[in-house]
Amino acid sequence: CNYLVEKSRGEIIDTLVEGLERLEYRGYDSTGIAINGDELDSTFIFKQIGKVSALKEEIEKQHPNRDVTFVTHCGIAHTRWATHGEPKQVNCHPQRSDANNEFVVVHNGIITNFRELKTLLSNKGHSFESDTDTECIAKLFKHLYDINLQNGTELDFHELTKLVLQELEGSYGLLCRSSHYPDEVIATRKGSPLLIGVKSEKKLKVDFVDVEFPDDSKVGKPETPILSADGSAVSNDISVTSNKKTPQSFINNTSEESNLLPIAANDFNLRHSQSRAFLSEDGFPTPVEFFLSSDASSVIKHTKKVLFLEDDDIAHIYDGELHIHRSRREVGASMTRSIQTLEMELAQIMKGPYKHFMQKEIYEQPESTFNTMRGRIDFENDSIMLGGLKAWLPAIRRARRLIMIACGTSYHSCLATRAIFEELSEIPVSVELASDFLDRKCPIFRDDICIFVSQSGETADTMLALNYCLERGALTVGIVNTVGSSISRATHCGVHINAGPEIGVASTKAYTSQYIALVMFALSLSDDRVSKQERRKSIIQGLKLIPSQIKQILKVEPKIKELCKTQLQGKKSLLLLGRGYQFASALEGALKIKEISYMHSEGVLAGELKHGVLALVDENLPIIAFGTRDSLFPKVVSSIEQVTARKGSPIIICNENDEVWTKKAETLNLVTLEVPQTVDCLQGLLNIIPLQLIAYWLAVNNGIDVDFPRNLAKSVTVE
Ligand code: G6P
Repeated sequence: CNYLVEKSRGEIIDTLVEGLERLEYRGYDSTGIAINGDELDSTFIFKQIGKVSALKEEIEKQHPNRDVTFVTHCGIAHTRWATHGEPKQVNCHPQRSDANNEFVVVHNGIITNFRELKTLLSNKGHSFESDTDTECIAKLFKHLYDINLQNGTELDFHELTKLVLQELEGSYGLLCRSSHYPDEVIATRKGSPLLIGVKSEKKLKVDFVDVEFPDDSKVGKPETPILSADGSAVSNDISVTSNKKTPQSFINNTSEESNLLPIAANDFNLRHSQSRAFLSEDGFPTPVEFFLSSDASSVIKHTKKVLFLEDDDIAHIYDGELHIHRSRREVGASMTRSIQTLEMELAQIMKGPYKHFMQKEIYEQPESTFNTMRGRIDFENDSIMLGGLKAWLPAIRRARRLIMIACGTSYHSCLATRAIFEELSEIPVSVELASDFLDRKCPIFRDDICIFVSQSGETADTMLALNYCLERGALTVGIVNTVGSSISRATHCGVHINAGPEIGVASTKAYTSQYIALVMFALSLSDDRVSKQERRKSIIQGLKLIPSQIKQILKVEPKIKELCKTQLQGKKSLLLLGRGYQFASALEGALKIKEISYMHSEGVLAGELKHGVLALVDENLPIIAFGTRDSLFPKVVSSIEQVTARKGSPIIICNENDEVWTKKAETLNLVTLEVPQTVDCLQGLLNIIPLQLIAYWLAVNNGIDVDFPRNLAKSVTVE
């Protein structure tokens, strides 16, 4: 949205399309934008299935006049990962209320009661054109607008939005623009991320926005709610409470994280006046642009000043002002939204000299692993300081159990570090897949410590599990990459892994950084235990070498590329064998291969081989085995012998110059991939690197667009 900043339609289209390109990694089966039409109150919608490049072509084909200029304008755009309705043009967002595009909506999330709404709205004469759940939101806007108008009430856009939200169940991060409210936009969220970037030439008067609680007196209502309203409706009896939100004690997240301002009870009037925050210091209207997005990467080119919306916030932008209202009242809810400064740089979200983001991120690991440790480990004194956890460590040490909860690759980083957690903390640790944890309704108690690991900090299953644990009073810890994400904000304490933005759908650098962050967490838990000092020292000194050891492994890429061509290409299936610390490497390696090369692959616990999987082994089945040195080495050797005895010839990931493997390689004609040796609990950090490269080259050799694997999305914000 631009206000008093003259823009041509061409520039507006380019800004939106470029923003979509940055978001494309989150969903890429169809795209669309809505901007001002040629008449003041008309809307152009362009949609296309496929990637953003296809949308660009579609817009060019329809060639709207790019030269028309606007001093104030709100455009919305979307790139989709289909949940309801296959990717076809009519299902692309924006979805609209009617043929005149009176209300147009883009939406992330799922409206769970959309069938009921659809039936109801259809009965009231609305005809649906798509299979999406989103269309019912646009139609609901129109329906409630029309009803109120018939009753003589012309609602503000945000008041209308409150009525719409009362009818919606499920999750949403949504934007709405309307020809009835030209140059205004609504942004609201529940369970799906949404942030607002603010760009202004002049200095703004305040760097926070106050939240207005619902004022029922102004809100017109339909005669009867169209669906049973859920009692959470607005109310007049606002008791203003001073509720400074406990600042999230994460460290290294933003440079201005502490500027949440407390509002005292007697500041009530002030609060209302300050909610129109975007006036320049000289009091004149400020030319200002707002960038609303689910992800900071699409905003960073324009501004680093961002405000993260909370669930149930309704942001209403008009006349260059941002107003935040609540769709429902909650006693104790935070009443300020601070404007934070992101530390992300544009270069971090560009491919640079690499062909794919995934390749870039694999190669960034010497640096990203270092950044995870930067300022947190004192290698001279063998000590660790995790600022975001420090105050909570005594409580965590007293726990009877720790529960790690995550999905996908993040789950594997939990598995990889579980043993060292148990060894150092002497507290039992369980590791849970978030969806299964929720399905089982796992019993959780007030004295449980629940650790949520997530790259994006937005994964729906992990977030739901977090809410479940918060409701039961557990202490929650976040291990998150994305600053300002829902999980980093909702947990009591935590660690940002500081790996930098990860764009490739297949997670690589986030895995190694999560792994290190979790090891550092385990080390912090044991820093008061004399009996663990030697072990701690050796791990800390091991961590110091990890970045350079990863660098060394990356040099093996040409050998790996060749190996993929000669031994793995075209095979239907691939087994990965590991045990102990290397079981997680086997699972994570198999996931990488499946995700991007589409080859079936399975991580197998080597000890379980004889209980079934051995039946698959013959001279044709490719197998990769983790044979690096640790206390389980003899058992691993024996498992691999079981394979070679059945004519299997596994590729062995082993330590440099390991005599056992050098001899076996000669006699059994085995291929080895050597990695440096490190402390047992850190070896997985090195062993996974060749697997990331194998997955990458298998996919590239198959002509797959590695950054956009079919059917997947980077950040899965739906259940
Ligand atoms: C998706 C991604 C995976 C990721 C998983 C968990 O499936 O494609 O790469 O591991 O979500 O995501 P999170 O952001 O919670 O780590």
